[in-house]
Amino acid sequence: MASSSSRNSLKHHFIIACFLIVMSSPVNGGFTSIFSFGDSLTDTGNLLAISISESRKPPSSAFPPNGRTFFHGPTGRRCDGRLAIDFLAEALGFPFLRPYYGCKNGRPEGLRKGVNFAVAGASALNSSFLAEQGIYNPTTNMSLGDQLNSFNDLLPSLCLSSSECKELLGNSLIVMGEIGGNDYNHAFELGTNIEKVRHLVPLVVDTIASAINDLIELGAVTFLVPGNYPIGCTPAYLTSFQGSNNDKYDPSTGCLTWLNQFTEYHNELLRKELEKIRNLHPDINIIYVDNYNNAMRFYNSPNQFGFRETIRACCGGGGLYNYNSSRNCGYPPVKQCCSDPSSFVSWDGVHYTEAANKWLANAVFEELVNTFPSLNKPQSS
Ligand SMILES: *[C@@H]1O[C@H](CO)[C@@H](O)[C@H](O)[C@H]1NC(C)=O
Ligand SMILES: *[C@@H]1O[C@H](CO)[C@@H](O)[C@H](O)[C@H]1NC(C)=O
Ligand SMILES: *[C@@H]1O[C@H](CO)[C@@H](O)[C@H](O)[C@H]1NC(C)=O
Repeated sequence: MASSSSRNSLKHHFIIACFLIVMSSPVNGGFTSIFSFGDSLTDTGNLLAISISESRKPPSSAFPPNGRTFFHGPTGRRCDGRLAIDFLAEALGFPFLRPYYGCKNGRPEGLRKGVNFAVAGASALNSSFLAEQGIYNPTTNMSLGDQLNSFNDLLPSLCLSSSECKELLGNSLIVMGEIGGNDYNHAFELGTNIEKVRHLVPLVVDTIASAINDLIELGAVTFLVPGNYPIGCTPAYLTSFQGSNNDKYDPSTGCLTWLNQFTEYHNELLRKELEKIRNLHPDINIIYVDNYNNAMRFYNSPNQFGFRETIRACCGGGGLYNYNSSRNCGYPPVKQCCSDPSSFVSWDGVHYTEAANKWLANAVFEELVNTFPSLNKPQSS
């Protein structure tokens, strides 16, 4: 036990070290662009831009204390600082990914190095299909299909012929997700029973697979495909299902076991589907990101990561988990946050703090280095 935990902690030191070295001397390992699709875990400003262009009420991420740790002001990210995608872009020597819906009317050359289509609240399944199931999305009607359509709209301004586009995409890193979490979030929020929500999982996974297949068709070769996070550990879900029987909680982490099992079910189907795609396309690199286990480390051994609070939000509207869905971080009166966000796993009850995102990104970068050892060049010199 002790030796395995000290081995783990050594491993983390190594990851941090190579991460910092790469950050300070950027190498982008052959990738010329990064294109990203997803939801609020990856949104670097899209929902904010969309709400401005449609003159709708701005999302809570438009207000402080969001952004306080790194950007020193709100950017539309649901975090005190950088998201995992920001750390990943930095580690690969790229600028932060610009939000497509915030700059699509600008100069497209600026988007050749990559752009982010992820929209907070976005689902994998489209909004008309979800509505047929009685599932309504209060945040946005954007789905993964809409994000792909936007990508297809943009593509002709980035490359002129289909062979040029194939080359551009072939040299790109595609970050596909996390996506699908909202399909389930919105269903659970509406009180849909778990069996019915489980029926959505194969449909969500098929939608992700077909997005990957469409991009392979266009020439994409390298994909990072993150699984879902342990939703049973999030203050939002813990609050929704507060008062459950004690036997529904994992006594060592305080997380809701059945919800974490639901996440594992999604991830298991996703992994099987990715394996099918790999078998059909042996030349394609599909790297699954094990967000579930990467994040479970925070709840199982918080001290190792410098966390004091795992299942209470840093910024929220009070209550046992400091989360109240009608008092979200950023909207008045929730303008304050904990004094040290880096000791919290959860920023606002749904999303991670910058400190947690950094660990999650380190794990992703380590996966990339396993597949592309040249990314780690500075380490061997
Ligand atoms: C929405 O999704 C359903 C099920 O995947 C599909 O049959 C339908 O064509 C989609 N509609 C739109 C407008 O994309
Ligand atoms: C989403 O809603 C906006 C209005 O809020 C509308 O203009 C747009 O067509 C809708 N998009 C989809 C894909 O339903
Ligand atoms: C959440 O906030 C609302 C609005 O301020 C309040 O009425 C409600 O009692 C709060 N819920 C809990 C569980 O604290």
